Amino acid sequence: MNINPVLLIEKKRDGHELEAAELESFIKGITSGSVEDYQAAAFLMATYFKGMTPAETVALTKAMLESGERIDLSSIPGAKVDKHSTGGVGDKVSLILAPLAAACGLVVPMMAGRGLGHSGGTLDKLESIDGFRVNLQRQEYLRALKRLGCAIIGQTATIAPADKKLYALRDVTGTVPCIPLICGSILSKKLAEGTEALLLDVKVGSGAFMKTLGEAKALAKALIAVAKKMGLPARALITDMNQPLGYSAGNSLEVIECIEVLRGRKLAQADLSSLDLRELTITQCAHMLVLGRKAKGMKEGRMLALARLQDGSAWEKFRSMVVEQGGNPAWIDDPSKFPAAPIRVEWKARKRGFLKTMDTEAMGKILVELGGGRKKASDSVDPAVGFWFHAKPGTKVTAGQTLATVFAANEKPLKDLEQWFQDSIEITGTRPKVPPLIHAEMT
Ligand code: URA
Repeated sequence: MNINPVLLIEKKRDGHELEAAELESFIKGITSGSVEDYQAAAFLMATYFKGMTPAETVALTKAMLESGERIDLSSIPGAKVDKHSTGGVGDKVSLILAPLAAACGLVVPMMAGRGLGHSGGTLDKLESIDGFRVNLQRQEYLRALKRLGCAIIGQTATIAPADKKLYALRDVTGTVPCIPLICGSILSKKLAEGTEALLLDVKVGSGAFMKTLGEAKALAKALIAVAKKMGLPARALITDMNQPLGYSAGNSLEVIECIEVLRGRKLAQADLSSLDLRELTITQCAHMLVLGRKAKGMKEGRMLALARLQDGSAWEKFRSMVVEQGGNPAWIDDPSKFPAAPIRVEWKARKRGFLKTMDTEAMGKILVELGGGRKKASDSVDPAVGFWFHAKPGTKVTAGQTLATVFAANEKPLKDLEQWFQDSIEITGTRPKVPPLIHAEMT
């Protein structure tokens, strides 16, 4: 079937259900280039507004998976388990989790993404390490998994190519927060990479694409249902994104924070805490170990994850992964080698009280304005810009206390951006209730 893309866009625009064959043909056209980017963007916006039925979502996921090859990992011994986050600000868990889970005995074939909308991307973070390659070819990917038990790669021209294209378009067209598009994007990658089970980290809150618990549960339910239809066992955690995770946001700053967690020592600045990041990573690792039958329950999984973090084997695995993927180990051994942003300023509290809320999406958007994310598909990201957060919801602050250290490439936008930052936080006189790190588990 060779459909006219205009008719398909109109059909979706008018709220009709698309047939599997129509979606298959359209996605093929996107991959081959016979469907133009502006037509793909129009389809994305129509889908954003009109949604998709469960059957359409499964058909979209299948078509996106079949746009490239599906990697067979049967030659690699061991349980293959991966995790994927729906995206947030400062969410750097994957960088620690993949080597940690591999150090615990799992095989982690991780196909990750770049920054998407206001949310950061694992691939952009890893590429801030000198020489790190995310575009491994099939044989290199298999070799890394065989040798180390983990690899983190991006979509290529042959593996999940439809997602490569659609992901980049969604990033710059305001079409990210859409359940069927998120399902197709995440699950086509995860099925293509060859994992046997999947943990989903569905973010909820001001910095997530799903703002309410109801929306997050609906996304988790849809992801688990489509995964099941495609034969992929999956479970989901719904985790908090009403504040950035860890203390940093920005590509190289986040890599440095991950190195600190992996090495168990502070390298950047002593008063900042990564406890939430560490706790979430250990919990996710325990879930992966249960999914891969390396642990009988969560308690055993947590103990194993903690042991491998503390005895340095997760750090060794991360270092080996960096070397295997072409990265310069001197940079991660000595993070002062990461190029620093030329401008460093502090944004301070304008009154005393408790930091009550942080519009975390605004934090992500300010980061994009600083150059840490993309406003159009051809933009490159500046790895050095970003934030250190010194206060998060619940922190008691005094007037004039530093709330964030900002790393910038130039002075010009900083005045407006600081005002945006100040407008995006709330300081109150009474101690606020802080949301839990993990809201729910769904299987
Ligand atoms: N991660 C993805 O890979 N795709 C999405 O749509 C959202 C998060």
